[in-house]
Amino acid sequence: MSLRITVVGCGYLGATHAACMAELGFDVLGLDVDEAKVATLNEGRTPFFEPGLEPMLRKHVETGRLRFTTSYEEVASFGDAHFLCVSTPQRGGEYAADLSHVDAAVSSLAPLLERPCVVIGKSTVPVGTAAPIGQRLVELAPAGTGVDLAWNPEFLREGYALDDTLHPWRLVFGLTAGGRDGPAEAMLREIYAEIIDAGTPVVVADLATAELTKVAANAFLATKISFINAMSEVCEAAGADVTLLADGIGHDPRIGRSFLNAGLGFGGGCLPKDIRAFIARAGELGAGDALTFLREVDAVNQRRRQRVVDLAEELLDRPWPGARVAVLGAAFKPDSDDIRDSPALNVAGRLHLFGAHVTVHDPQAMANARRDWPTLSYADSVSDACRGANLTLVLTEWRQFREMDPASLDGVVTDRRVVDGRNCLDPVLWRSEGWAYRGLGRP
Ligand code: UDX
Repeated sequence: MSLRITVVGCGYLGATHAACMAELGFDVLGLDVDEAKVATLNEGRTPFFEPGLEPMLRKHVETGRLRFTTSYEEVASFGDAHFLCVSTPQRGGEYAADLSHVDAAVSSLAPLLERPCVVIGKSTVPVGTAAPIGQRLVELAPAGTGVDLAWNPEFLREGYALDDTLHPWRLVFGLTAGGRDGPAEAMLREIYAEIIDAGTPVVVADLATAELTKVAANAFLATKISFINAMSEVCEAAGADVTLLADGIGHDPRIGRSFLNAGLGFGGGCLPKDIRAFIARAGELGAGDALTFLREVDAVNQRRRQRVVDLAEELLDRPWPGARVAVLGAAFKPDSDDIRDSPALNVAGRLHLFGAHVTVHDPQAMANARRDWPTLSYADSVSDACRGANLTLVLTEWRQFREMDPASLDGVVTDRRVVDGRNCLDPVLWRSEGWAYRGLGRP
């Protein structure tokens, strides 16, 4: 009989992982403590937007291979492998991660376990979290159950979640001394057999290295983005063009062009909170000096938001109160409806506080934006958002914005002034259509 898999925590990561495990042919039971979410998922619907996920989820819910529950008893008796996919948000008022969901999942599941199994952590956690979880599992599980812990961090990007799960660039298996070459490693290799057979590299490591690999990857990506944004500041001072500079250095394979798009900087539910939690943990470990540069990475990133506000002010050339501003983009990046720490909404909110009348349009994130930023105005189309605008800001590089014909806004906007917060528009085209164009780090 094939392995039976459970997924504890069915947010963005867990729901995706559950559907992908079913796609790989396993029987899967997902658990979430939120009854409404479980009901939605059991109808084959996703509570968030991710390209391709809903059809995959629906297909497996309809065949019965994938189900969702709120019952830890059911999960404990069902699974050979239990994936922990609960969230680890930033603690209020601190840099550190809030691990209460991980702790609650472990203490709810462990006492109910009935048979040998492996608990596999996927949540992003500070290094040093997994080892004590392994001990607690053994302490809390009924004597003789035979439970081991592995850590298998997730590197998926929103918007590419299915591809990143089913065709990852690498798999990282963090194992205890007993799990290596033992049941835990064997189980991970069985679960990912199809992916490994396709040639995906596997890095087998200890628990701490696996935990660190995830945060180090996100720290590197954040650093790359802030590096190019720092170059963008210098380009502005020197009259140079950061987009050409990125091409110029990015052709060097040691550097690489990806994640060198200068603009409004990074947001979302991962990079900002992960680098802060990493700084906090390194400090606790006495290695704080090693990560002081990440504070600068964070600071460069925060400055981008103010820089866009300053550019907007220069271009507007009139007082904010009464000015009409169109903001195109609310999601923290395209192909997502996620607005967590969204740079776009941060800028929109600041302009609103200055007294501007700000109207936002986003292809997917409108409902979330309306809920969290109720004082902004919203429009269902680009032209409705831009009607009468004295200034237009493109703050998330959705394809429909990138490919927009500036002529389509003739007679819609009051003033042809655009701030390209993602350097995603063609300045030559926009200027040739009579627009005053300002990008970040480009003349
Ligand atoms: C990230 C990591 O990429 C992923 O591996 C990890 O598992 C979770 O965190 P995600 O948050 O989905 O994924 O988004 P990502 O594509 O990394 O973008 C993060 C932010 O950086 C976005 O706000 C994006 O707009 C910004 N970004 C990205 C830039 O500003 N410039 C770039 O060149 C690339």
